[in-house]
Amino acid sequence: MSIKNTPILFFLILNLLLGISPLVLAKDSIDFSLHSPPTGAEIYQSKCAFCHNGTVKESPRFEALQLLSSDAIKVALTSGVMKAQGTTLSEEEKNAVANFISKIGTKDSKALAGLCDDAKAFSNAKPIISNWGMGLSNQRFIPENLAKINAKNIQNLKLKWAFAFPEATRARTQPTVVGNTLFTASQHGVIYAIDTKTGCIRWTFKADSEVRSAISIGTDKNGNANRIYFGDFNAYIYAIDLQTHNLIWKKRIDNHPAATITGSLVEYQNRLYIPVSSTEVVSAYSQKYECCTFRGSVVALDAATGNEIWKTYTISEEPKPSGTTTAGKQIFAPSGAPVWSSPTIDTKRGCLYIGTGENYTRPSTATSDAIIAMSLATGKIQWVQQTLGQDSWNGACTTPDGANCPPNHGPDFDFGAPPILVSRKDKPDMILAGQKSGMVYAMNPDKNGAIVWQARVGRGGIMGGIHWGMASDEQTLFVPINDRDAWPEDKDKPAFSGLHAIDIESGKFNWSKIQENTCGDVTWSCGPGLSAAITLCNNIVWGASLDGVIHAFSTKQGQILWEYDTKQDFQGVNGIKANGGTIDSAGAIVVGNQVFINSGYAKFGEKAGNVLLCFELK
Ligand code: HEC
Repeated sequence: MSIKNTPILFFLILNLLLGISPLVLAKDSIDFSLHSPPTGAEIYQSKCAFCHNGTVKESPRFEALQLLSSDAIKVALTSGVMKAQGTTLSEEEKNAVANFISKIGTKDSKALAGLCDDAKAFSNAKPIISNWGMGLSNQRFIPENLAKINAKNIQNLKLKWAFAFPEATRARTQPTVVGNTLFTASQHGVIYAIDTKTGCIRWTFKADSEVRSAISIGTDKNGNANRIYFGDFNAYIYAIDLQTHNLIWKKRIDNHPAATITGSLVEYQNRLYIPVSSTEVVSAYSQKYECCTFRGSVVALDAATGNEIWKTYTISEEPKPSGTTTAGKQIFAPSGAPVWSSPTIDTKRGCLYIGTGENYTRPSTATSDAIIAMSLATGKIQWVQQTLGQDSWNGACTTPDGANCPPNHGPDFDFGAPPILVSRKDKPDMILAGQKSGMVYAMNPDKNGAIVWQARVGRGGIMGGIHWGMASDEQTLFVPINDRDAWPEDKDKPAFSGLHAIDIESGKFNWSKIQENTCGDVTWSCGPGLSAAITLCNNIVWGASLDGVIHAFSTKQGQILWEYDTKQDFQGVNGIKANGGTIDSAGAIVVGNQVFINSGYAKFGEKAGNVLLCFELK
């Protein structure tokens, strides 16, 4: 041990005496420079285990990382979710740690089996499901003329095919559909155009990094699909021609190194409206990181050229130095208020609505955890309805020694589910917004978002309450609740994980269907909660729980009409083994006599999986 490391040794011993794991403290402090090159195992123990052994809730567990190829791990450390952690490693160290972690070695993740014999796709077809929200108002409602599955025939719904995302540990791109072609994407940034009948691959396109959001379908002046648009992990937006499958343009829409696209962009009248989020909450885990300088925004691009028309930040001021952390690092504020859900387009009022997340640092702003209306034409903010102030939080708040955690940090109660706009016959329009706090708010779009009613549906928590998406027709709002990991002040309150139906006019509950915990004794983070977005079609609500089970609920009283446990192995039609796991983020889509849904989500200690499932009426 060199003199240089003596204070660290002292620190480690002191903390061992205090009962704190040395791994917790070692994260930024080991210096290998005076020794022979560290082995992959040593690098993992000193620089990775701290988070990946389960201490940091957001991170996938070691067992999930083992399912990735060493190439995929290197990509994560170089340009993916771990690029900040990767900056402290040399090429050799990246190789060593990647080879140590991966159970499957350096397989070529580009190898492509399962191509269709006939690569011809649709021509002159109108999109059936063209975006995340299943329409501009984010209702996640599929009209009966598009789908045949109902309460009478649902018992005949059987697994038709499974598609395996190669070497993936999660499947989070919600599919969209044109004619008989389905569009989805993988953790490794491959966009797939898949035949809905057989699951064979018509064509692929390789983006530079992971694609998490739904692939939005663009249309020509006759309403026929002509392009796809999507954003990647590093905040690049792509436009691809559907005839040639070639890139038309590509553009990075935010200069912040941690900027990312999580929410799906929306195309409307030759413009793209793009929600901009960041992974700076993860950067903030490091005590050395000067937190935080990202501000959420919405960007409008010309769909034809990719040129920017406007960009509106959720926080108007630029972050400025604002004190120092206990680790002596500069704090910047205001920051945060990311937008990680799909914007809602109000064609009548010429505006869009977005939900924002928490501030990353203090002082906080009046625009975090809020619904914000912006003009479609100019991006000007028309009104802000904040439902929780002072909510400053970042990843450091989940660690015992998180120097970057703001004092008296907030509960991280984002609006992650997009606001829903409902237009009703003879009744005023309403915006319905569900928050991670477990609260639902009905807002009046004609009165600057004034709250018409509010209802506590769940106890709330960091993964919801209401996490990824509710669904609604004109009468009823369906609310999925995932009451896990409560904010400490709420942990003794009852949990309401399950599905709830609320009358839109009165805000009163029609019924609640609480889900039982059937997880048993598992090592991963299981639960009965509905965190993934739900979908409404033909009086059926399609939901899926963290335990990997798909549920078809009747809209009458929430009775279960059909269920399927995806926690199993599948033979992928593309010749690769697939397995199901936790279902989170993206929800089901229903088209004709088929249902499509992803399974697998290795985040928050949940169960990894890599499968897109297709069920079909027999
Ligand atoms: C400060 C906490 C922290 C440290 C330290 C850390 N990770 Fe991570 N890691 C995370 C989190 C959080 C995620 C999930 C991020 C997300 O999906 O947004 C993650 C995700 C990953 C993934 C998944 C990438 C993917 O595309 O799915 C890999 C691989 C990974 N980490 C490897 C490493 C390695 C190797 C190290 C050590 C050199 C390391 N991590 C250090 C927190 C950490």
